[in-house]
Amino acid sequence: MAEILVAYATKSGSTREIAEVVAEQIRHSAHEVTVLDAAEVRSVEPYKAVVLGSALYLGRWRREAVKLLRRNEKLLARKPVWLFHSGPVGPQQVPQRAPRQVREIAARIGAEEPVTFGGRLTRETAAGFLAKRMARTGAAGDFRDWDEIRLWAYVISERLVAAR
Ligand SMILES: Cc1cc2nc3c(=O)[nH]c(=O)nc-3n(C[C@H](O)[C@H](O)[C@H](O)COP(=O)(O)O)c2cc1C
Repeated sequence: MAEILVAYATKSGSTREIAEVVAEQIRHSAHEVTVLDAAEVRSVEPYKAVVLGSALYLGRWRREAVKLLRRNEKLLARKPVWLFHSGPVGPQQVPQRAPRQVREIAARIGAEEPVTFGGRLTRETAAGFLAKRMARTGAAGDFRDWDEIRLWAYVISERLVAAR
């Protein structure tokens, strides 16, 4: 069983790609990492540390990510946990606050508030009326900053090495 879990909640796949890059970076420090859809995580029990990220939709986290947090709260409180969310699209990248429920759980398990990474919204990935409309405006594009994401994951891997 891998030591580190990187779980994600996505609708159009871009948050999964962020999770994969985070996992790849953490693997560089010789940790074993499993990447899973949050909906597939039964329990975080087997893992030494957990990274969880969700896409943001209308200010909310996806249900499966919140469910993972709620169901595993007690276990997560005993492990290092890092949270992120991905969403902001368009030229202005404004950090988003997580929904209150997520912030409250983060505080209870001793995790920092989620960091914000830019999102992706393209005509190809946009599903639904609102998404298609957004994609036709200036919000369309891929605003994920891979250097920023790798740096964040690097800092996590350093902390994990120090905790070994
Ligand atoms: C209907 C809709 C609502 C959205 N609401 C938000 C939001 O509240 N905050 C935000 O930062 N991004 C928002 N976004 C942008 C998405 O979070 C962004 O496209 C993200 O990268 C999607 O992730 P996914 O590909 O993993 O599903 C919204 C996008 C759509 C289509």
